[in-house]
Amino acid sequence: VKILSEEKPLSGKKVLITAGPTREAIDPVRYISNHSSGKMGYSIAKVAKRLGAEVCLISGPTCLEVPYFIDSYIRVESAKDMFEAVLEKYREYDILIMCAAVADYTPTQSSQEKIKKTQDKLVLELSKTPDILDFLGHNKQPGQIVVGFAAETQNIVDNAYEKLLKKEADVIVANDARRAMGSDENQVYLIFKDKPTVVIEGKKEEVAKELLKRVCELLEK
Ligand code: CTP
Ligand code: CA
Repeated sequence: VKILSEEKPLSGKKVLITAGPTREAIDPVRYISNHSSGKMGYSIAKVAKRLGAEVCLISGPTCLEVPYFIDSYIRVESAKDMFEAVLEKYREYDILIMCAAVADYTPTQSSQEKIKKTQDKLVLELSKTPDILDFLGHNKQPGQIVVGFAAETQNIVDNAYEKLLKKEADVIVANDARRAMGSDENQVYLIFKDKPTVVIEGKKEEVAKELLKRVCELLEK
């Protein structure tokens, strides 16, 4: 993405981004997770930096290189860790972009020792994790913009709009989970409360750039 010749619309702004999956421990050697690669969130972090922002990236485990040129990078493991890291940071940021594929459930108890295969059937009890986006939507500081993602496999726009209302996000970036996860490209719908939906398609860096430009427009109001 060539941004060299352009101005830096995010200069003076602070952007907090979550990215990647989380891992929920079952025992010391096993976990529950999902197919998120982290590429979308890392692209947003890089592009936000190039557009002039001060950037903090809170990331679950990914295979991606740490973007050394951003301002702060926090590596987390579980949904609970990610929530704690966000809680510590979010107040100082202007734009909060919750791109991570946070696990919705975590083992109620994770075993201290490796679970042995002594039983024919094993039942795992899971408990809901804290919803970070929902917390931010309901606790945002004046002027803060909260951007959520929605990974859907059906009724993409309708389901995502419901998430926007429920979590009080300013924008929801909706995508087809099966198409987006792991890929270098993405097609997303930017869904606002009372503005027409915008469709963006392209490489994840291009999507990131267009998304950040649209979010910038919201900041000015
Ligand atoms: N999210 C979050 N904390 C969670 C779960 C999700 O902050 N514990 C955020 C994601 O980062 C994303 C948004 O909520 O920005 C939507 O995630 P998604 O999985 O699409 O929706 P859920 O609300 O978790 O609902 P469901 O998985 O049932 O569709
Ligand atoms: Ca979910």
